[in-house]
Amino acid sequence: MVLALRALGVGPGDEVITVPFTFFATVEAIYLVGARPVLVDVEPDTFNLNPERLVAAITPRTKAVMPVHLFGRAAAMATIGAIADKYGLFVIEDCAQATGALYPHSLQKVGSGPHFGCFSFYPTKNLGACGDGGLITTADPDLAQRVRELREHGSPRRYHHTAVGYNSRLDALQAAILRIKLPHLDTWIGQRQAIARRYTALLAEVPGLILPAEGFGHTWNQYVVRIVGDRRDGVQAALQEQGIRTIVYYPVPIHFQAACADLGLGPGCFPIAEALTREVLALPMFPELTDGDLQTVATALRQIMQS
Ligand SMILES: Cc1ncc(COP(=O)(O)O)c(C=O)c1O
Repeated sequence: MVLALRALGVGPGDEVITVPFTFFATVEAIYLVGARPVLVDVEPDTFNLNPERLVAAITPRTKAVMPVHLFGRAAAMATIGAIADKYGLFVIEDCAQATGALYPHSLQKVGSGPHFGCFSFYPTKNLGACGDGGLITTADPDLAQRVRELREHGSPRRYHHTAVGYNSRLDALQAAILRIKLPHLDTWIGQRQAIARRYTALLAEVPGLILPAEGFGHTWNQYVVRIVGDRRDGVQAALQEQGIRTIVYYPVPIHFQAACADLGLGPGCFPIAEALTREVLALPMFPELTDGDLQTVATALRQIMQS
């Protein structure tokens, strides 16, 4: 994401719009190029950037918008793309959690927009390496060339440097592992989709539990439920007692992070993101889960919620 922002010439004095409910890396990239993050609250059902709030956040300094396809579900790219077009903004999609996901309005994969899509191969991702790695997509050959140079110490030719860049190459060993795993990706995504459907069926109508919206082309990097009424941490502990490990993505909204104190944003600025940090719980999700595993999780969660 740093490479993408740098390739687009985004830097000091510029603003980049993103969301307060994401992994810190999204805003970190904006800070690292010297620009200022501007946050727009998310939708409670998709957890993604609320396109209806986007226009109000645009200023003459806005250079780009960075929607995040959180948990494997694509953001509302038709609307976000149209607004970006109208206001002359670049679009950098944070596809870290959404390898293989489809835009809700088309059969196209996330990251196939005009500017940049940024993917992560961190081991927990749907296509994970055995260490760190990432990939950038763009439809623009000039932008692609700029990224290639920036990732290689700003050098178009060995020992000739036209920009101050980075050592940001994909490690050859990781690439070899990813090439072996890639042909299996669609199968694994299909298994995740089947697991999500099964969770949704098993957990229907549990009081106090809000299930994630299905959504076309969702690749379910995470299956995240909402537990309403300040019970989330207790429910998580009770599941853990039964040996069921869940994770809270994310317990702190971006605007509450100490590293973002300069934004001067406090409680109440983004009520949906703030509520989600209190309510979300990611259930076990990986392709190898058996139906028995899912029934165990669902039964335990149902019992805990009803107790
Ligand atoms: C939404 C999001 N953006 C960015 C990143 C950063 O990716 P990486 O860990 O590969 O740097 C991650 C994952 O870790 C993420 O979940």
